[in-house]
Amino acid sequence: MNSLEALRAEIQLLRQRNQALARELRITREKDRHLMRLTDRFYRRFDEGIDFSDASGGAPFDGISFVVVAYNIPRHLRRTLTSLSPSFQGIAPEHLEVIVIDNGSSPALRKEDFQEFPQVAKVIRVDGHPSPVSGLNQGIEAAKFSTIALMIDGAHILSPGVARNTKSIVQSVPRPVINVPQYTLGPASQNLRSVENAFEVEEEALRELGWPANGYALFDYAVIPGEVVNKHTLDAIETNCLITTREVLADCGGYDERFDEAGGGLANIEIFHRLTHDESNQYISFPGEGSFHQDHGGTTTALTSEQRDKLVAEYYEKYREVTGDDKNFSLRPTMVFGEVSNCNRTVPTISTEYGQARQSILRQLADIYISRVQQNVQGPMPSLTLKATHADERKIRPILSPVGLPRDDERLGYRKLMQKLHKAIKPAAYFEIGVDDGGSISLADCPAVGIDPDFELVHPLRRPTRIFRQPSDTFFANDSLTEHVFSMNFELAFIDGMHLSEFVLRDFMNVEKRVSKGCVVVVDDVLPEQYVMAQRERQFNAWCGDVYKLIFVLQELRPDLHIHVVPAMAGPYRKGIAVISNLDPANDTLWTQYDAIESRLKADDYDVESIDALESRMPICSLEQFDELLGSLEERSAS
Ligand SMILES: C[S@@+](CC[C@H](N)C(=O)[O-])C[C@H]1O[C@@H](n2cnc3c(N)ncnc32)[C@H](O)[C@@H]1O
Repeated sequence: MNSLEALRAEIQLLRQRNQALARELRITREKDRHLMRLTDRFYRRFDEGIDFSDASGGAPFDGISFVVVAYNIPRHLRRTLTSLSPSFQGIAPEHLEVIVIDNGSSPALRKEDFQEFPQVAKVIRVDGHPSPVSGLNQGIEAAKFSTIALMIDGAHILSPGVARNTKSIVQSVPRPVINVPQYTLGPASQNLRSVENAFEVEEEALRELGWPANGYALFDYAVIPGEVVNKHTLDAIETNCLITTREVLADCGGYDERFDEAGGGLANIEIFHRLTHDESNQYISFPGEGSFHQDHGGTTTALTSEQRDKLVAEYYEKYREVTGDDKNFSLRPTMVFGEVSNCNRTVPTISTEYGQARQSILRQLADIYISRVQQNVQGPMPSLTLKATHADERKIRPILSPVGLPRDDERLGYRKLMQKLHKAIKPAAYFEIGVDDGGSISLADCPAVGIDPDFELVHPLRRPTRIFRQPSDTFFANDSLTEHVFSMNFELAFIDGMHLSEFVLRDFMNVEKRVSKGCVVVVDDVLPEQYVMAQRERQFNAWCGDVYKLIFVLQELRPDLHIHVVPAMAGPYRKGIAVISNLDPANDTLWTQYDAIESRLKADDYDVESIDALESRMPICSLEQFDELLGSLEERSAS
């Protein structure tokens, strides 16, 4: 072949490759378009609104019985029971009971041992059965409610939304079988490390995390164990909190008591497989919740890997003997329910694979829904895990022209000012009303709690943080919850929720009543730069509402408070923040006069004619005065 022919042959080859690539590109584009169409269909379904409460086929929820097995874990059990208290689970006390199965502990557990846990309805003592399954079946028999949660290893702490989410599912979906994904506590798999004084080490870590006030903080101190098969969707072959109904258990059977080995062998896997694979049941996972295993040297956790492998081989043998099947742990596709937030999606596996994938978890969940739509899968609607994003008021309102104050003055940006306050006060804990995208709460370098009915975090949080998805009035109406939360020592609070004066007044009253005298409360939006921003009706992207009236009310009725108003900026607009100190939690002036104040607010008594009039009544301080204030706060925090 001469060189010309060789060149021709090469050109021919390149052409063919080119054609093949063009074909592939066409196919990829077609797939892409198909995916886009599916995504559009999927989002249209969300836009139309999927309302779980309307779903039919569920049953009334009479309550939930937790059946919890304990064998010589008295201290771990107390933590478990803390997480199973009605206030922690956000459920009425009359709808939750715990049945403790004492599987031969020494000394024996008695009901009187649990006086601080009134939800413990019964302690059932089981002797002569090293396996917990007989006790679990007795617990099912004794359960008062029709929804039953089975916890084969009582050393598991639950996250706070398990009972609440279960209630929604039970009311909406017939025959549910729920998987609460399991995690192990600690920085590394409990099978790989051996910790002396594991309980004390965990105790210190839990204190640091702000648990139990910060129930979801456990996700910051956990790893996904090997039993979880798919790190993205949290598909598992078992769960340590298996929730279902009495009806399902009656039809499918409870635990198989032929699994008589200590710890129950593969009994938990077998029942999970049996219940999830029954086509008449609805298998649902709660990817935003967790069941966290405390290190207590359980049946397999405390073994060397050789011992563990040997034991597991024996378990498999028993499984074959009992079921007549080789181990067959195939997974049934899961439906998912509940909220998955960034703050509880940072859990690594031992290989950190999950950590890397966490950003895409919502995408993964979307894929599940898309494939359901694609396959026309019948059954209950997908859950509200992905909510249709609400229109962002700041984006859909007309843009207000700023008056032209120095744009984005570094020293005056409200977040910069908040940062300085954090630095000076070094609060032990931080409280915020109005979280939105997490911009301000992410400044906290201490445990934090936020309240917002509609937050959507995009800022990474630095420390354990719990955010309650509810309006502040609802939050404060829950006495046991607020008492729990305010056991944290909040030394800095930021009120930036609903921008209407009566709401802000209530927020201030509720915070002041519950914190200590030394706490500093910052209120946003008290010094709008334009009159239109100070109206109760929102008209433009920039809006302060009539929050400024709070300052007038406090000046009139609470002259004892120290109020500094700083002309803080938010982007190109001046909005102002008020820094309020010298609190007096025992002062009830605002509480006794609240109705009269609210009437006056509604009767426009505190309205101003113009921004000049508003400014003239405000205790505005210069940046120098603010620096002095910071100095005194810093001195106080150092002493
Ligand atoms: C201005 S944004 C908060 C911005 C946030 N503090 C920051 O600086 O990054 C106001 C937030 O208050 C929330 N909100 C509205 N009404 C509320 C209420 N009644 N209780 C608590 N939060 C509320 C809204 O959902 C919104 O996310």
